[in-house]
Amino acid sequence: MASKFFVPGPERAPKVEDLFATIAPRYDVINDLQSFGMHRLWKGRMVEAARLRPGEQALDVCCGTGDVTFRLARTGADTVGFDFSHAMLAVAAQRAAQIPLPSGSGTVRFQQGDALDLPFVDRSFDVVTISYGLRNLADFHRGLRELTRVLRPGGRLLVLDFGKPDFLPWRWVYFQYLERICPLFGKVFCGDGDTHGYILDSLKAYPAQHGVDSALRELGYVETRIQTLLGGTMTLNTARRR
Ligand SMILES: C[S@@+](CC[C@H](N)C(=O)[O-])C[C@H]1O[C@@H](n2cnc3c(N)ncnc32)[C@H](O)[C@@H]1O
Repeated sequence: MASKFFVPGPERAPKVEDLFATIAPRYDVINDLQSFGMHRLWKGRMVEAARLRPGEQALDVCCGTGDVTFRLARTGADTVGFDFSHAMLAVAAQRAAQIPLPSGSGTVRFQQGDALDLPFVDRSFDVVTISYGLRNLADFHRGLRELTRVLRPGGRLLVLDFGKPDFLPWRWVYFQYLERICPLFGKVFCGDGDTHGYILDSLKAYPAQHGVDSALRELGYVETRIQTLLGGTMTLNTARRR
């Protein structure tokens, strides 16, 4: 049965907001457990691929609790973390207060709002990242157009998310994990298996690595590249705006 948090159409965004309001306090610990800590490596890989230089401007859309935002800032980039969930941003603010960034880091600020309607002027960022966010947007193409609008020509876009492995037997095993094991994390930590049953439902509806790559080419990006992680269970799409 589909997760109650996955509702295609106009109800999609409010349901996603409910979902993250429910899981925010446990989000980080569940991430560590369900990925065996590997999400840290994958996020590190994304930030490395961004090749930021000190003083550059970075935007981390769907930043959640700020994992990637803080990493971007540690490279010296002035960074904005952007998300529509007050609950997730509250955890990010708590983390910012508890763990000061090392000297040489860029500035960090968090801002609340909708990724489908970014409150930033055109071409204002050198790098835009979105990790585990694009899959959650009610309109994937509109989301990519917004990310592109705020990226300067020559700027880099990086998309990290769950993938769909090309090797079908491996995809089957992985989908079994998402269907049978992941909801247990939701049940144990949030009292509701649907919170993590949502991952598979949203992934099935998501064009994943190949769809993202095609959409980026259609938008005129160059140097598009797909990096597969753990056999394609996770994927990093990178591209440069022409
Ligand atoms: C799975 S979390 C990812 C958080 C973080 N980027 C990470 O990798 O740990 C997805 C985030 O996307 C945010 N989100 C989903 N739809 C959004 C939208 N339309 N506008 C802004 N944020 C959105 C959620 O609130 C949530 O914090």
